[in-house]
This record gives sequence, structure tokens and C-alpha cells, in this order.
Amino acid sequence: MKNISNNRATDKLIFALDVQSYKEALSWIDLLSGHVGMFKVGKELFTAFGPKIVDSIKEKNQKIFLDLKFHDIPNTVARAAQAAVKLGVDMFNIHASGGSKMIRETVLAVDDCAANLKIKKPVIVAVTVLTSLDDHDLNEIGFKKNADELVIDLARMAITAGASGVVASPRDIYALRNNLGNDFVIVTPGIRAGEKIKKADDQKRTLSAYEAIKAGADYIVVGRPISAAEKPLVACGQIIQEIAEGLAAR
Ligand code: C5P
Repeated sequence: MKNISNNRATDKLIFALDVQSYKEALSWIDLLSGHVGMFKVGKELFTAFGPKIVDSIKEKNQKIFLDLKFHDIPNTVARAAQAAVKLGVDMFNIHASGGSKMIRETVLAVDDCAANLKIKKPVIVAVTVLTSLDDHDLNEIGFKKNADELVIDLARMAITAGASGVVASPRDIYALRNNLGNDFVIVTPGIRAGEKIKKADDQKRTLSAYEAIKAGADYIVVGRPISAAEKPLVACGQIIQEIAEGLAAR
């Protein structure tokens, strides 16, 4: 078996900071700093508390995935993306369905801003099809392709336009790697432990951390399997072990 360092496995774990209070967010940041690779700040937390939540994570020298799923006219998304660069986030996302022009302008604006600030440019990942939408919903909106085709086509378009990669559900990882290769980033939520954590919740299509990493995910986003665990640090350690095993099994 290949020898995978614990650090390399830890880097791949993104903790979803899905909490409603600033105090609660801070206590998770305190507890998990150094034990996960990145903290994901989403719409709920960012709308409530703004950049100070990002600053609190940066004070601990931790990385940030800003999950605001930008989708607007190219100029607006490009400017919002520059604001994200200035905040110092390490990763952020956009909707691929905003179109290739929106993505290209955003990538250029980010490159420019990061170069001016002399900082590393963030990873830009595109959301293809929201997993809450089924084929019927897509048809209702006006898409003529089914979800599986649309995921691949939107991913191809986003990557060609310069995005670093995509956010993909567990069930899409294999198809993305088979159709589009290995040269782009895949970030995957919907991770659940095999036998260890059997908590009923709203995630329907899941994979374990081991399976997702083995299938080709570069990062996994994990919330409740850690936050709802009796011993979050132990759960976190188990997931990192699974990631290391998944990397070794590739
Ligand atoms: O608690 P859980 O591990 O399900 O959290 C997963 C995180 O990933 C949440 O922040 C959720 O919003 C996000 N996510 C998801 N499914 C998607 C896209 C994002 O669960 N298709």
C-alpha cells in the first residue's frame, strides 16, 4: 500500500461550518483548526456575520472555502470574485450555468487581482446541476438534457472557460473522471461514514470518504458526520484515515 501522509489526507477534508451563531462557529474553528484542511463558509453564515467570520478563520491560519455560488452577469460576478480574493479565501464557487463568458471574466479578474496583491489565486469551482433538481425540474426550467448529461457538459464548459474544477455529488465523480480526465479539481459533499455513523438526514446519494477519494474526488466537504458526532475529533480522525486509505487505493 502507498504511504500517504496524514497531512496530505487532512488537506483534503473541508468542514462545513453550517451553524447559525457566531459563537458556535468560533468554537468549531477553535476545536477543528489543524484537524481539517479548510472551513466552508456558506450563505447562511456569511449573510449573517459577513467578512468577520472569514477573518476569524484566517486568524487561526486556516483555509477558507467561500460557498456563495455566485451567479449573475459577468461583470458582477467578476467584481464579487475580486472581493473574495481580497478577503483572502482559498476557494470559492460559481454556477456553471452562468455561462462561459461569466466564468472567463471571473477567472481573468481573479488572476489580475491575485497578481496585484501578490497572493496565491483561489481555486474556483463551478456548481453544475444542484442535486436538489431532478430531470423533471430541469425540463421545467427549460433544459433539454437530463441531469447526468448536463453535469458533464456544464463541467466541460466551465473547465474550458478556466474554472479550476467542479463541485460534484458522489454519484457524478466516476462519470466526470471518465469523460473529462484527471486534470481538474473535484469537490464532493454528501459524505457519510460506512458503518460508524448511521444518522438519518437529508443526504440521499452518499459515498464514504474512502469511496469518494478513491473514485477521484480531490476534496470532500463534511458537516454533520463531524458536527453531530459524539466525539467530533474522533470522527474527524476516522475520516482522515479513510481519506488516506482512499488515496492509497487509487
Ligand atoms: O452535513 P453535511 O455533511 O451533509 O454537509 C454537507 C455540506 O455540503 C453542506 O454545507 C451542504 O450545503 C453542502 N452541499 C451538499 N450537497 C450538495 C451541495 C452542497 O450537501 N449537492
